[in-house]
Amino acid sequence: MIDFDAIPRAALPDLLRRAPKAELHIHIEGSLEPELIFALAERNRLALAYPSVQALRAAYAFSDLQSFLDIYYAGASVLITEPDFYAMGAAYFARAAADHVVHAELFFDPQTHTERGIDIGVVIAGLARACADAKTRYGIDAALILCFLRHLSEDAALATLAQALPWRQHLLGVGLDSSELGHPPQKFARVFARARALGLRLVAHAGEEGPPAYIESALDVLQVERIDHGVRCLESPALVERLAALRMPLTVCPLSNVKLRVFDRLADHKLPALLDAGLCACVNSDDPAYFGGYINDNLVQTFAALPQLGPAQAYRLLRNSFEASFCGEGQRSAWIAELDAAFVAAAQH
Ligand code: HPA
Ligand code: ZN
Repeated sequence: MIDFDAIPRAALPDLLRRAPKAELHIHIEGSLEPELIFALAERNRLALAYPSVQALRAAYAFSDLQSFLDIYYAGASVLITEPDFYAMGAAYFARAAADHVVHAELFFDPQTHTERGIDIGVVIAGLARACADAKTRYGIDAALILCFLRHLSEDAALATLAQALPWRQHLLGVGLDSSELGHPPQKFARVFARARALGLRLVAHAGEEGPPAYIESALDVLQVERIDHGVRCLESPALVERLAALRMPLTVCPLSNVKLRVFDRLADHKLPALLDAGLCACVNSDDPAYFGGYINDNLVQTFAALPQLGPAQAYRLLRNSFEASFCGEGQRSAWIAELDAAFVAAAQH
């Protein structure tokens, strides 16, 4: 038993930083820092629309999801070779290791690259090599989730899945991202059915900007095992009840939600309500290079802004990250035991 009352609030930031955690909602292209964008542009002799790293960073002021996506796809255009994709992954894993991430499931957007003429094999080879290195270098267990761009057609998604098949062994699952409104999950029914038949795990962004009906469609039509974001479920009490009964994970990204104006301020974020409803929510960084922070920044800033969140909620969120992950059962128990030990030690000080 962990005595949460014995953990002072002042100990929380350090405990959140030190505790083991899983990151399940990170777009690897969203981890491209401006410095690396400039370095890769130079290496590949590409011209950028911004004169400096500072000017690029200054452009990171978004009004909604689409205004972010426009800049995010432009940033990813500097990725050309296998070492470029490797470098992007390696930079993320160095940050993740510093944040005590022990398990990471990385989203990547192959169509952002294949549409520019980059071979999907180059993309997957570089990222898979970064994942393998993360294990040997940091002990991080890492895997790849191929995301379909929902603003493109389902036929394009089917073609992408077919192109990825020679690299099937490097893929944990498939997801669905990009512009949500006007592109409901059911648009991708066939490609998710095919992915399921291939034994791939299924997730989808839903309920970030889209309505609760999109979350329902992700569950009913796509048969996903996790909802990315999902925060708009709170608009439908019946859906909240269903998600709680299923223990359907929601990968919540607080800093992203503020930067993309889903919530005005961190203090307005509905994470406490999600936890109070018994939902399996966890905290993630989404696109850390664009939204002002990696997973520990998300955790620490969110707890600082929301006095309703205390040690018991910290434990619940980190534990949920493991419960929501697609790791093996033995590994899951081992990490939860490590998490428990960190909280027991904090309660004894
Ligand atoms: N939502 C949808 N698509 C995305 C996101 C996001 O937050 N980040 C990168 N692609
Ligand atoms: Zn996302």
